[in-house]
Amino acid sequence: MSRILITGATGYVGGTVLSQLIASTAPSIKDLTFDLLIRDEAQAVKLRNAYGSRVNTIRWSGLEDTAFIEDTASNYDIVINTGSGFIPEGAIAFVNGLARGINTGKPAPWMLHISGCTNLSDRPLTQPPRPIREWNDETDRGRILDFMGALDEMEPYAQRTTEVGVLNTAAETGVQAISVNTPCIFGEGTGLFNRQGLVIPLIMMYVVQHGYGWKLNETANFDWVHVIDLADIYVLLVRTILERDDRGVGYLPSGRNGIMFSAVGRTLIKEINQSCLDAAFADGTLPRDDTPKEKEIRLVPLYEIADKLTAGRRDIAERGWGGHKATKAVQARKLLGWEPKRQQNAWKKDFWAELVALTENRRMVTMESCIGAKK
Ligand SMILES: NC(=O)c1ccc[n+]([C@@H]2O[C@H](COP(=O)([O-])OP(=O)(O)OC[C@H]3O[C@@H](n4cnc5c(N)ncnc54)[C@H](OP(=O)(O)O)[C@@H]3O)[C@@H](O)[C@H]2O)c1
Repeated sequence: MSRILITGATGYVGGTVLSQLIASTAPSIKDLTFDLLIRDEAQAVKLRNAYGSRVNTIRWSGLEDTAFIEDTASNYDIVINTGSGFIPEGAIAFVNGLARGINTGKPAPWMLHISGCTNLSDRPLTQPPRPIREWNDETDRGRILDFMGALDEMEPYAQRTTEVGVLNTAAETGVQAISVNTPCIFGEGTGLFNRQGLVIPLIMMYVVQHGYGWKLNETANFDWVHVIDLADIYVLLVRTILERDDRGVGYLPSGRNGIMFSAVGRTLIKEINQSCLDAAFADGTLPRDDTPKEKEIRLVPLYEIADKLTAGRRDIAERGWGGHKATKAVQARKLLGWEPKRQQNAWKKDFWAELVALTENRRMVTMESCIGAKK
């Protein structure tokens, strides 16, 4: 039976991936047990109580403990690294651990990583803007990693350093590896702990607090995908690896070609602000006595948005909220038969759901855990 190790099961994405794997009725998955790396014993207990024999929990100190990660990963066939994508040494250690299984008679090892589209973003407020373009994971293939590698040499960015490091190390060692490069993720997750996204909750929080929306420029975009559709990609990847005689080797992209996009729709940051305002004005949350009576979207400085929404990180804020980063997800659809179900209608409805969640005090959003900032 295949041995699968998962990180991030306490997070938004990883928790949803785990629950979708456990819910899968596919014969190749339905009897599998998943091993989970967990930092906190109380969370481990909750996971074991909820999922019973479908999970084992393993205590670890985190993505910084590279010796432990290498030793542990060497016992597995598939690592699903869906925790913070911002810690290069930890993610690369998984690949190095998996590499120990090559040429030992074990099945070809796979690393399934998560990363984000801001790795491709320009920084149009502090650097010369780049021409707007859309990256295509089928036709651009290895050029995507080359481009990221060149950007990262000029200016390291932890999430990008991690993605480039994982895929390059995989190519060098012979480990199979895909990084699912994700845009803005929205919708309620299905994990046991953090079930909320970042982008819409953060913008909704700002809009309701201030009474107006914001923009850093006119052009900043985010593509989007619903968290359950994103989780489906991981389920389909695991199924492809387990169900094909070639274990996906040579069929799925890997290593230097291993970036798989997951975008479903596209919007502008100022449009997200507009939709938050529309929802808040329509349900009477806005205006208040002390806020503008008409819907307004103000041009605001980068430092303010970095401080309020991005843990003070101006580089991440500029890429995320000011940059252009359009991606076209062809490979997941073609190779995995991925059919994302939550489209424009779900995206629109999410603004209402997020407003209700915020007004019911169910949204305590911060960026720290996502970017792996110290606890
Ligand atoms: N959310 C989005 O909109 C979005 C968009 C694009 C890309 N992504 C990518 O997806 C990744 C996960 O995002 P998310 O929304 O699921 O974040 P999240 O809900 O904040 O979860 C983060 C997960 O990472 C774990 N973690 C954080 N620091 C760690 C460390 N030092 N060592 C070990 N584990 C650590 C946390 O474990 P503990 O419970 O032990 O702290 C938690 O399981 C991001 O880092 C990013 O690369 C996310």
